[in-house]
Amino acid sequence: MSQEISVLFVCLGNICRSPLAEGVFRHVLDERKISDRFLVDSAGTGSWHVGESPDHRSARSAATHGVILTGHARQVQPEDFRRFEYILAMDQSNLIHLQEYRDRVGGEAALYLLREFDPEGGPGAEVPDPYYGGPNGFEEVYNIVDRSCRALLNHILEESGTLR
Ligand code: 4NP
Repeated sequence: MSQEISVLFVCLGNICRSPLAEGVFRHVLDERKISDRFLVDSAGTGSWHVGESPDHRSARSAATHGVILTGHARQVQPEDFRRFEYILAMDQSNLIHLQEYRDRVGGEAALYLLREFDPEGGPGAEVPDPYYGGPNGFEEVYNIVDRSCRALLNHILEESGTLR
């Protein structure tokens, strides 16, 4: 059996962007029939929404693409930097927060902006926060996250020495 690869998606509230990224990444793993090789989760840097289900606008946008969002919001914990090999931040603010946190608590997790893997993202590109916007924002976020997650998976599989 091959070793489990662990991936954590992080945004601010863990109700809009990172649960969507988690759901899309799980969906792509299912499509490729490799879900059993991965540990996938999401978390927020903030605590305001802990325990809540994904935002209904994120869930609706995902459902129109056949992706079902599950889970409840939780805050990033020190052990996440030891449990997860890859941690993907949705924006620069999340990334800076995670870097400072990892510096304090230690851990080997590699930190990236998710859009580093977006073929249409430039240097420093972010997944925009759709929380205060309209439904179009959620569809835009879905497309960004879908492109980025597919490319992220290819990157991880190449890095782990597995053929795509
Ligand atoms: P998320 O979106 O970080 O993508 O989950 C947000 C959710 C809640 C808030 C901000 C962003 N908020 O300010 O409560």
